[in-house]
Amino acid sequence: MSEDRKVGILGLGSYLPELGSYLPEKILTNKDLEKMVDTTDDWIMERTGIKERRIARADEATSDMATEAAKRALADAKLKPEDLDLIIVATITPDMFFPATACLVQQKIGARQVPAFDISVACSGFIYGIAIANQFIKSGTYKHALVVAAEKLSAVTDWQDRSTCVLFGDGAGAAVLGPVEKGGILSVYLGADGRQGELIKMPAGGSRIPATHKSVDERLHFIKMNGTELFRHAVKIMADAALQATQPLGLKAEDLSLVIPHQANIRILNAVAKRMGLSTDKIYLNISKYGNMSAASSAVALVEAVKEGRIKKGDKILLDAFGGGLTWGAMVIEW
Ligand code: UT7
Repeated sequence: MSEDRKVGILGLGSYLPELGSYLPEKILTNKDLEKMVDTTDDWIMERTGIKERRIARADEATSDMATEAAKRALADAKLKPEDLDLIIVATITPDMFFPATACLVQQKIGARQVPAFDISVACSGFIYGIAIANQFIKSGTYKHALVVAAEKLSAVTDWQDRSTCVLFGDGAGAAVLGPVEKGGILSVYLGADGRQGELIKMPAGGSRIPATHKSVDERLHFIKMNGTELFRHAVKIMADAALQATQPLGLKAEDLSLVIPHQANIRILNAVAKRMGLSTDKIYLNISKYGNMSAASSAVALVEAVKEGRIKKGDKILLDAFGGGLTWGAMVIEW
């Protein structure tokens, strides 16, 4: 098959928990959080732009949310599970260390025994996943790939730590990729900087600090984050990634119809828009409803932007994300 085959998104789907029971049995609002930690609705809104977030049920794991999103993306693409040649799940909250959540999704949607694996690049996962699938399809190795970004961050959130628990939420978004006649993925830019890995991590549970009573008592199985430092890196890295993905195509900020960013903090996104010379109305936002869902954030944002008619045929859009690792990625897609 031709080397310069064009690859695009054939279908999209998302899943967001409606009625959680892991914590309060509803969408978790800032007002609910006021009763749990020393915080206020005003502080959270002003410092992050988040109003509420979805919390998965106790019996609902990442693969369950991923499966729902995947089924919806397949239906949107008018394809069947057996049409898939590759399954990638981007997550930092897999159901368990192994088997991979992608293998669980393969079984749950009834796909064939095609390659299935997880990638762990935190908030950049949806873009990394699409980038990997793009290569396999472009080379002619596979025809149809499923990329799911799914997170149950509520399971690794320290609900006693006000500096992190107000930020995160659960959800899943999925895309089915395949060959397209026109447009599709025009550019991909990925990067990572392991030197900054300490800025956001979950210290225990792996081979460095296996689970013990002590590790649980010390609350090491939760997300630890240096928010201020991350903020600084996020603005610079996301603005630079946007440039690296657009410049080779000769595109300027004004040529983009919409930017779909990772939704970590509204102040980060306003600062990125300013650096890019882009008006803020070209940055798609849904952070107020869902908070930061790591890899799922940009996936769900893309699904909703399309649903709301914000992306039309022929539009050039930019996906732009940054997260733990540190990792980052940006890509231009012609719709
Ligand atoms: O997904 C990618 C990875 N994550 C990110 O990119 C997150 C990036 N960082 C951020 O979004 C922001 O740094 C935060 C929202 C996490 C924090 O905002 P900030 O403006 O950097 O606040 P800060 O951490 O400097 O804290 C300012 C004050 C502190 O009090 P003092 O020391 O000034 O008295 C905090 O203790 O706000 C306090 N604070 C809170 N107050 C009320 C921290 N969390 C809260 C809270 N409610 N939930």
